[in-house]
Amino acid sequence: MSATPDRSITAPEAARTADGLPGHVAFIMDGNGRWAQARGLPRTEGHRHGLEALRRTVRHAVRLGLGYMTIYSFSSENWRRPETEVSFLMGLLRRFLQRDLSEIHNANVRIRVIGQREDLDSSILKLLTDAEALTRENSGMTLVVAFNYGARDEITRAIRRLAQEVASGELSPEAISEDALNASLDTAGIPDPDLIIRTSGERRLSNFLMWQAAYSELYFSPVLWPDFDREAFDAALDDYCGRDRRFGGLTAKAL
Ligand code: IPE
Ligand code: IPE
Ligand code: MG
Repeated sequence: MSATPDRSITAPEAARTADGLPGHVAFIMDGNGRWAQARGLPRTEGHRHGLEALRRTVRHAVRLGLGYMTIYSFSSENWRRPETEVSFLMGLLRRFLQRDLSEIHNANVRIRVIGQREDLDSSILKLLTDAEALTRENSGMTLVVAFNYGARDEITRAIRRLAQEVASGELSPEAISEDALNASLDTAGIPDPDLIIRTSGERRLSNFLMWQAAYSELYFSPVLWPDFDREAFDAALDDYCGRDRRFGGLTAKAL
């Protein structure tokens, strides 16, 4: 093949900080239920301690100077859980947004929410949009909260939006490019995650950032989310720093 294909290619870029740390770390915070069950406690206790782990992790990410941190807090499939657990998780998000927002705001952190908003309870939706509005001008780390989020749902909604623009004549089919799709996703403007950390030993994405994870480094920690601490976070970052990201090309050494 001699000619470069005539299509728009979004080159995945590693948003690295100066010291080689990832610019964007995304977390699949898993293992709350197992943490509680191992202690003979109700699953909800695991979620409560999981919130503590989240607080610790956000603080550490801010200290490290990460540009973006994404947390998978409730998936579009988590509605399949018993109603009592779902409502506990909703309450926990409410508590997080009410109690922690001032600390987050004072730390110059900007909140972005990704996921389906239409079916959400109006009071939760208001808390989420208020948190985004309050922190919009903050210039420190961006905390991306994936709530009622599923990658298939996100991609489907983005394609529907583009299809509507084509149907109304605003967009030609030829203008549908990787950039156009990127700009229609919930994550528009957010760089792809450099590192995705999943706790609890499970090795799957569970419908998380499937488009954006094309070139993400994956790290699976055996630690259950409520036990996730600075040491476990640093172990993941150390591992990441030793990786060779090629994005389909060659390393500098091989050229
Ligand atoms: C992650 O922990 C929290 C959410 C999915 C909201 P789990 O509740 O999935 O815990 P396990 O996987 O059952 O241990
Ligand atoms: C993924 O964990 C969702 C969140 C962490 C919010 P799950 O526990 O729901 O994933 P599966 O069901 O084990 O794949
Ligand atoms: Mg789980």
